[in-house]
Amino acid sequence: MSVVTTKSRRLSVPRLRARKGREPIVCLTAYTAPVARLVDPHVDLILVGDSLAQVVHGMDSTVPVPLDLMIYHGQAVIRASAQALVVIDLPFGTYEESPEQAFRTAARVLKETGAAAVKLEGGATMAPTIRFLAERGIPVMAHIGLMPQQQNLKGYKIAGRGADEWPAAMADARAVEAAGAFAVVLEGMVPELAEQITTKLTIPTIGIGASAACDGQILVVDDMLGLVPNPPSFVKRYADFAGSAEAAISAYAADVRARRFPAAEHLYAVRPITAA
Ligand code: KIV
Repeated sequence: MSVVTTKSRRLSVPRLRARKGREPIVCLTAYTAPVARLVDPHVDLILVGDSLAQVVHGMDSTVPVPLDLMIYHGQAVIRASAQALVVIDLPFGTYEESPEQAFRTAARVLKETGAAAVKLEGGATMAPTIRFLAERGIPVMAHIGLMPQQQNLKGYKIAGRGADEWPAAMADARAVEAAGAFAVVLEGMVPELAEQITTKLTIPTIGIGASAACDGQILVVDDMLGLVPNPPSFVKRYADFAGSAEAAISAYAADVRARRFPAAEHLYAVRPITAA
């Protein structure tokens, strides 16, 4: 009897964790199959972030995102990628109530998408939940600093501007590490604090608007491709996709109005009649 096994070529959670303090970890978000296909060969980790709320669905914040939406986008990204570790955000309201609720949500995400890990926001408060998941086979990426899901309470507040905030931020970082998180996103944080956290932790830190000293960096792909009109100041724009799309759409509109499109090469030919 022969046994057929499929071997994944994806970067695994243990291999990503082992990158701490070594080669920088490259991460980007992706929400759709075409973008995941472009991103996959170049990155170590793809995050299906709940930032898809604003970026893809025109919502005002990440708060309204339903779990099913994360799962649909997660499935698309998994289908179109082959080598990156795929992590999916748990949306607001689907994990904070109890470790059991978080386990049910995270298990559903992993089973229905094929992703290897989930990300959730919160420091010391969420540490018992992170431990509960990690001890039951669910790899968790933590997310501290600026936490967009808490914007109704705190706004989009940069972490660590006052040095009096540093001990609590450090305690959050240590708590998620001790609970078993395999990596932690540091979002919207002054560089000195992000660097100190990176130095003290044994798990990789992934910065966004934080510090070049982090073990890795992540950006929202639409921001760095220039698809979003006013991205945050920490974003470096590597392309002007909106500008190119605008020019292409306006050229198409002009062609249609002038009857230049479709031309002969864009049309189907009649099959020649063959003699019986
Ligand atoms: O949802 C997201 O895209 C994120 C990144 C900003 C880290 O959480």
